Amino acid sequence: MLSYALYLLILLHIFPTAAAATPEAYTATDFILLNCGASSNLNDPSGRSWDTDERSRYAPSNAATISIPSKATNQHHSVSQIPYETARVFTSPFTYTFPVLTGPKFLRLYFYPNIYSNFTTTLSFFSVTANNFTLLSNFSAFLNSPSSSNPSFMKEFIIYVLDNQMLYLTFTPNTNSFAFINGIEIVSIPDKLYFRGNDVRIKLVDKMLRLSYLKNDTALENLYRLNVGGSNVEIQDDSGQIRGMFRAWYQDDVYINGPDVSYMPHAEDVHINYTAQTPPYSAPEIVYKTSRGMGNESGLDWRFPVDSGFYYLLRLHFCEVLLEITEPNQRVFTIYINDLPAEIQADVIAWTGGPEIPICKDYIAYVPPNDGRRGKKDLRLSLFPNLQGLPMYTNAMLNGLEIFKLSDSNRSLAAMNPEPVITSSPTAVAAPSPEKTKSKKSSVIYVVIGSVTAALAAVAAVSFLIFRQRVKDSVSSYSRTSGSRVPLPSDLCRHLLLEEIKSATDNFDDNFVIGKGGFGNVYKGFVPDASGSGSTTVAIKRLNPSSNQGAREFLTEIEMLSKLRHLHLVSLIGYCDENGEMILVYDYMAHGTLCDHLYNSENLPLPWKQRLGICIGAAKGLHYLHSGTKCAIIHRDVKSTNILLDEKWVAKVSDFGLSKAGPTGGDHTHVTTLVKGSFGYVDPEYYMRQQLTDKSDVYSFGVVLFEVLCARPAIIHSLPREQVNLAEWAKTCYGKGTIEQIIDSNLEGQIAPESLSKFVETAIRCLRDKGIERPTMTNIVWSLEFAMQLQEAYENRGGHVEADGGISFVGVGTSFPLLDSGSKSSGLSTSSSDQKVMSEDVFSELMNPLGR
Ligand SMILES: *[C@@H]1O[C@H](CO)[C@@H](O)[C@H](O)[C@H]1NC(C)=O
Ligand SMILES: *[C@@H]1O[C@H](CO)[C@@H](O)[C@H](O)[C@H]1NC(C)=O
Ligand SMILES: *[C@@H]1O[C@H](CO)[C@@H](O)[C@H](O)[C@H]1NC(C)=O
Ligand SMILES: *[C@@H]1O[C@H](CO)[C@@H](O)[C@H](O)[C@H]1NC(C)=O
Ligand SMILES: *[C@@H]1O[C@H](CO)[C@@H](O)[C@H](O)[C@H]1NC(C)=O
Ligand SMILES: *[C@@H]1O[C@H](CO)[C@@H](O)[C@H](O)[C@H]1NC(C)=O
Ligand SMILES: *[C@@H]1O[C@H](CO)[C@@H](O)[C@H](O)[C@H]1NC(C)=O
Repeated sequence: MLSYALYLLILLHIFPTAAAATPEAYTATDFILLNCGASSNLNDPSGRSWDTDERSRYAPSNAATISIPSKATNQHHSVSQIPYETARVFTSPFTYTFPVLTGPKFLRLYFYPNIYSNFTTTLSFFSVTANNFTLLSNFSAFLNSPSSSNPSFMKEFIIYVLDNQMLYLTFTPNTNSFAFINGIEIVSIPDKLYFRGNDVRIKLVDKMLRLSYLKNDTALENLYRLNVGGSNVEIQDDSGQIRGMFRAWYQDDVYINGPDVSYMPHAEDVHINYTAQTPPYSAPEIVYKTSRGMGNESGLDWRFPVDSGFYYLLRLHFCEVLLEITEPNQRVFTIYINDLPAEIQADVIAWTGGPEIPICKDYIAYVPPNDGRRGKKDLRLSLFPNLQGLPMYTNAMLNGLEIFKLSDSNRSLAAMNPEPVITSSPTAVAAPSPEKTKSKKSSVIYVVIGSVTAALAAVAAVSFLIFRQRVKDSVSSYSRTSGSRVPLPSDLCRHLLLEEIKSATDNFDDNFVIGKGGFGNVYKGFVPDASGSGSTTVAIKRLNPSSNQGAREFLTEIEMLSKLRHLHLVSLIGYCDENGEMILVYDYMAHGTLCDHLYNSENLPLPWKQRLGICIGAAKGLHYLHSGTKCAIIHRDVKSTNILLDEKWVAKVSDFGLSKAGPTGGDHTHVTTLVKGSFGYVDPEYYMRQQLTDKSDVYSFGVVLFEVLCARPAIIHSLPREQVNLAEWAKTCYGKGTIEQIIDSNLEGQIAPESLSKFVETAIRCLRDKGIERPTMTNIVWSLEFAMQLQEAYENRGGHVEADGGISFVGVGTSFPLLDSGSKSSGLSTSSSDQKVMSEDVFSELMNPLGR
């Protein structure tokens, strides 16, 4: 292992660093779109114009006599008409000739298994070659189709067209079979984008750790192109140019091995500084702005099904956009490919020289066949933190990934057709998943014609899910049950009629509105008791159906809240899901939020003992969430506006569940959870190391304790820099022994010095940098109750209290000066400040299939 490290260390110095030339955008010099079998030129959904191949200069002059243009018999609704609606069918070898410039080209082949005239593509097996490279051999588009509900697909190759060459593309049907193609796309690639020349060596990740380079006599097939930690990127957004390379980038989450609990920061407002080494066409900005870091897992691990017996080029895209990380040795990790180290000390800042500068790293790895048989096998990429050099954070990251298969020594990229998966369970056929029933009609095309192939096709049609789908499914089995409708727990909370809600709010009259949010309005209303004997005042949250919080989140909130019953948690009384409405009905909290009683309001300042009582109540609510339920629940958005007060000033923690759930994208079955950590409250450890624990809530609660003591918001932007963040400022003052200067002046003379000491010490411990050093909610409840006892003892003894023998000031630093009750408080006059609480999404999307 040591010799590896040394070797890699030496290698690092061979690698060229960024040159200073200005990066340029790229416009493709060759750009050909052929809509095979079509009778006229047509535009696809992205607006690109496809030419018919019939009379084009690329097809042989006798094309009409040696091939058959045809229209798909069954056009599936999910399949784009251009270029998939028509195909050219070949019963003998057929060659297209493209006079293109020298250099690398994307060659994209579009296939739609279907019935073309009397040609059923279940029976089609053929080869495709391009400039003496075998791209496909004994290929069945039918068997390679991603799924029966999404049968069309594209295969992308890269061919380097040498000097004075043309690009020849030949389709050769197997004996007694036929070939077909729906569309052909050719787009030129910048010369040094993938083929970086002989001087850029690429690490060959094997036990020998040799160096290699990509020669221009290698053909590539792209298998994966991923916007890691981000969303799908459409072809027209690839390079941001009028005519880029039209690469589509996909989400990576389905390839994550194990439950996906990663952390995905999304830096929308950063500027990506491309370099000559990593020019703008390397990958679009969005790929570099989004990334995946570790959540509570110990590393990041992806598995990609590939064809064994080939070498693969892996291009890893990196760009450090977390504002905390600006120096080398802050985030250092090791990259493994197939469990072999590819990079021992990956340190993006050390590579790039600074944040917001992208870089791609190439590696080549071989995937050996099993027992000499070429079949599907997983290519594994794993990243683990490397703590040897004591980096500041324990984490790893990745922004983007491309995986290419390299042509073998026979100049071939061809692999076997995916093996039909034989399932013994007949239910696999009998019970199609709901989203697949739509495609029933089109799967009629798979009805078998012929005899020998019939058996094969039947099996294949049954177990049609090839690797992509299989991976998706295996991931979705991780309790991503949100797709199926959970029975609503009517035994635990009431199902209210829309009529009842309407009469409670005078048909959602604006006069009843007591709050507004991105989710919709909150109304105050009265609903009859379940017993019918009286009525209850309630808060009615009417979700806007067009908001991001969809039906699934609505159900999550109901499920979650109806199971949680505690004096210090806001309780859900009922819900209404009639008529497409999504309405949640909660206990009405007469005194509103804790925040409203601290600053920026007309309310009278609360006395110290009442504040202490509220803090104890809220702490008990959080303690219940953390340890009183079967599985610990982390609130993730603890702040003074989420602590509500009922008519008896009992504190109730609110807003857990719904605000954490977010939109669901595309055809994925997972829930995308929006983590709304609010500015000023977010645990820096969670923020930087992405290790979410119940101690993150403890940190936020520490901020709340100081809000209560100082009566100021967690963030006030207008203050001098060191005072902006309450948590930081309080820690600074505590360290300097000047905490008394920031206490709410309204509390002057009220607080027993010992009570204050206990309270401040508790709050400071909550704000410790390391979660492990923070107290648990149990400790906090105990400490605050003790602070209350000290306060009461002080008041009972007429203003003087001594801690008796059994109780000591645990952890109070000697540096903390006990206040004498007469000391003058020159705290901030925050009530005059018109600063609003800044409540922003510090992180955005965090994929969290497990819910919260
Ligand atoms: C399809 O029909 C054409 C004539 O229309 C015939 O030449 C060809 O052999 C048929 N192909 C198959 C696969 O039956
Ligand atoms: C393909 O191979 C043949 C024979 O080896 C050679 O004559 C021809 O030039 C090659 N064509 C291309 C495009 O490389
Ligand atoms: C292809 O590579 C060979 C050597 O590997 C080199 O001589 C030749 O110039 C390259 N061709 C192009 C067009 O770059
Ligand atoms: C990125 O570029 C911008 C403008 O070109 C520059 O102001 C900024 O300092 C650069 N950032 C880094 C990290 O180099
Ligand atoms: C991460 O958290 C999820 C749920 O929050 C849990 O199921 C999983 O076991 C945790 N993983 C580790 C490595 O702690
Ligand atoms: C290349 O082709 C030969 C002859 O068909 C075969 O024996 C050999 O295994 C092939 N090589 C690879 C790497 O597939
Ligand atoms: C062609 O592929 C089919 C399906 O995978 C397979 O059954 C058949 O044996 C292959 N034929 C050849 C000649 O390799």
